[in-house]
Amino acid sequence: MKKIFIVGNWKSNKTVEEAEEWFKQVASSKQQVESNIETVICPPFTCLPIFCSLLTINCLLPNFTLGAQDVSPFPDGAYTGEISARMLKDLGVRYVMIGHSERRKYFKEDDQLLANKVKEVLDSGLIPIYCVQGPTTPIPEGVKIILYEPSGAIGTGIAGSPQEANEIAKTLREISGSDTIILYGGSVSSENVSSFCQQKNINGVAVGNASLDPNKFLEIIKNASNL
Ligand code: PGA
Repeated sequence: MKKIFIVGNWKSNKTVEEAEEWFKQVASSKQQVESNIETVICPPFTCLPIFCSLLTINCLLPNFTLGAQDVSPFPDGAYTGEISARMLKDLGVRYVMIGHSERRKYFKEDDQLLANKVKEVLDSGLIPIYCVQGPTTPIPEGVKIILYEPSGAIGTGIAGSPQEANEIAKTLREISGSDTIILYGGSVSSENVSSFCQQKNINGVAVGNASLDPNKFLEIIKNASNL
């Protein structure tokens, strides 16, 4: 069975209390998650400690792993406001999203800065999920998970076409190596998730808005499991 990643990107949403409530609802649903599905939750930094204790210490939700939405391009040191890869690792984080188009747009992150973030993440033994808007986005050395997100599809409710996404995923894999994992993101919902995950070159999805609601997110996991 094909392994499928479902990445929940909460963006700048939810307090710790709200995160706990979300977790309780997901854990109490007792929904069976197929073993080929890996669900990566990327909450804001402030919610990582509570997820760390719920997921890794209490071992609730066995197929869930923890991701971060961003990371410092520097190691530990005098970089006010930054969270280093080492700090993320300490909180049980396994994956780190780098280069989301919102980071590029609102925080002016450029290719060099993003390459530095990838290096920090790899040096710390974490796995970068590198976001691109198409095959022309440069991909730093060592990236093995690429998240393709067409900008017009992010947060608009208008997902791209699964067939077009499959073609772009094919090109991305040709560029970056046959063992690269390619994910699609942009207005993924319970209605369209299976049409993306069924595509030959797509190994999963990233979910923004619909990951905030536990029921919608569970429905997405369920529909991705029934392929
Ligand atoms: P969306 O966001 O699902 O709300 O479109 C996707 C993303 O930005 O990762």
